[in-house]
Amino acid sequence: MMSNGWIDLNGQVAVVTGAASGIGRAACVALATAGAKVVALDLDLQGAQAVATAVNGAAHGLDVTNAAEWHVVAEWIQTEFGRLDILVNSAGIALKDTVGDVDLSNHHKTFAINVEGTLLGMQVALRFMRPQGKGAIINLSSTASLKGNPNMASYGASKAAVAHFTRSAALENVRAGHDIRINSVHPGLIETAMAGEFYGILEKIGSPDALRTMMTTGRPGRPEEVADLILYLASDRASFISGASIVIDRAASA
Ligand SMILES: NC(=O)c1ccc[n+]([C@@H]2O[C@H](COP(=O)([O-])OP(=O)(O)OC[C@H]3O[C@@H](n4cnc5c(N)ncnc54)[C@H](O)[C@@H]3O)[C@@H](O)[C@H]2O)c1
Repeated sequence: MMSNGWIDLNGQVAVVTGAASGIGRAACVALATAGAKVVALDLDLQGAQAVATAVNGAAHGLDVTNAAEWHVVAEWIQTEFGRLDILVNSAGIALKDTVGDVDLSNHHKTFAINVEGTLLGMQVALRFMRPQGKGAIINLSSTASLKGNPNMASYGASKAAVAHFTRSAALENVRAGHDIRINSVHPGLIETAMAGEFYGILEKIGSPDALRTMMTTGRPGRPEEVADLILYLASDRASFISGASIVIDRAASA
């Protein structure tokens, strides 16, 4: 693929989880347009394959919560591409729960995918990036991490954990002298399959505050708008940005 001129990722391998849908899919397209070889990972293998075909990349099935599957994928990436330069952790779920009435199985599932999946991904990526001496990791958090979420308590807490792991990982690598940048992106409402879940939850519980907040933005965001931020953070244009939590929500949380 051609680079877009301003950002050139030719020769780099970019791995995206949750690649079959929404923000992950848009990130695959953006990274490939800038010249990266894209590796699309998802539970939904068919969806990942469709994206990979569209961007002339490769796909593999992966449950991000499963360390053994991550190991298999890492070996495959080593054999097929011999390197890993960029990781976008976009796989995630959003379930409804409250602190007072918490459903522990929802909570465990949310943390397993959103937090542990992100952590396992970072561990695999760092094993490639440290010997390479360079790399960029972008973790999908959310504006839900910034304030209380009475109706999606576990989701908000999981995304706060993602942001915190991001900062710790960024510091750990900078202090060890690695040029590996790790940032979290915090979207507001973005029009994807997950947004449909959000709308459904808000409608069911009649949450006027949350709906009002969304209305102030005028419109939901597009996955491509988040993908452009991910692309920037993945590139050398963002060479002094690491450990940052970057909000992208058209002032919804301002
Ligand atoms: N859409 C929004 O409004 C919004 C807002 C803030 C943050 N986010 C975050 O952005 C990320 C992407 O969200 P989206 O809206 O594109 O969601 P989406 O539902 O469109 O896509 C999520 C993808 O993750 C995959 N996935 C789910 N569980 C998985 C697992 N265990 N292993 C591998 N893949 C798995 C799904 O198959 C799906 O393809 C998520 O982490 C989400 O929390 C989304």
